[in-house]
Amino acid sequence: MALSAYFNKIRSEVEGALDRLVPKIGAYPPVIHESMRYSLFAGGKRLRPMLALAACDCVGGERKSALAFACAIEIIHTYTLIHDDLPAIDNDDMRRGKPTNHKKFGEATAILAGDGLLTLAFEIMTGSPQADGASAQTLLEVTAQTARAAGSTGTVGGQVADIASEGCEPDGALLEYIHSHKTGKLITASVRGGAMIGGAQDDQLRALTDYGKHIGLAFQIVDDILDIEGDEKKLGKNLRSDIKKEKMTYPSVAGMEESKKRAVELSGIAVESLEMFGSSARHLKDLAMYITTRTF
Ligand code: IPE
Ligand code: IPE
Ligand code: MG
Ligand code: MG
Ligand code: MG
Repeated sequence: MALSAYFNKIRSEVEGALDRLVPKIGAYPPVIHESMRYSLFAGGKRLRPMLALAACDCVGGERKSALAFACAIEIIHTYTLIHDDLPAIDNDDMRRGKPTNHKKFGEATAILAGDGLLTLAFEIMTGSPQADGASAQTLLEVTAQTARAAGSTGTVGGQVADIASEGCEPDGALLEYIHSHKTGKLITASVRGGAMIGGAQDDQLRALTDYGKHIGLAFQIVDDILDIEGDEKKLGKNLRSDIKKEKMTYPSVAGMEESKKRAVELSGIAVESLEMFGSSARHLKDLAMYITTRTF
């Protein structure tokens, strides 16, 4: 399923803002900024900023008020990819169609590029209230929630459990923890942050949180499926990587057919949780569908 003109427009808004927000390659010391930009502009789908901006739109917010936040989320996501690919974690050679950051710049620079991106994201999130229209209080809450989603009770926790589970016996509860944390938390934070900056009411935020959790899990299930059945060229990363490392994945625990069924089911539940928004949620519904039908 191809994404609509709306998402192409959002993608170009995000690309432009990222370019403005990230130090230029010449900024001293050049190698770190070259390395940060190398991974950031290697051609990601920009799904998380799309979710943030579509959630802001969905609650009637001004989309440009959430643009800096949307970029910050993509910057955090890019750091997770650089560190995920490191020899000590997944040891992968290709990402976003190019050699992984450590393959190109060496491990030390790749680790530091991840650190640089992660900290830059928080500078961006807290540093542009005037451009944002959202209150300082809202930005503070969004920032704290994003930190929790990215940290040891979110992405980092999920990654730790992911590594620890390599080669272990299938365990459905553990798998759910890994997926909802390493991937689901940041996706949910993207939706919630965009909605909060857009002025979401409590009941709206609850519904969108439900949506975020379900698509977050569905997204990682599809990532697992594509690691087995996907097209390496389209995905831009080495496939069959999970089997090699005996990762605990949805297909390895539940089987391929069940995994596909579950992803569709989760995206259906996500769409149902948007009912109160009517047609304002059409773009978020499109993204839920896209997540289960994507081939890259
Ligand atoms: C890959 O994320 C890592 C996971 C959390 C599964 P994406 O599939 O969103 O990667 P990009 O941003 O498009 O490269
Ligand atoms: C990655 O999960 C999750 C994060 C980067 C936090 P994977 O290890 O399955 O992602 P890919 O397949 O390398 O993109
Ligand atoms: Mg991994
Ligand atoms: Mg990986
Ligand atoms: Mg994967």
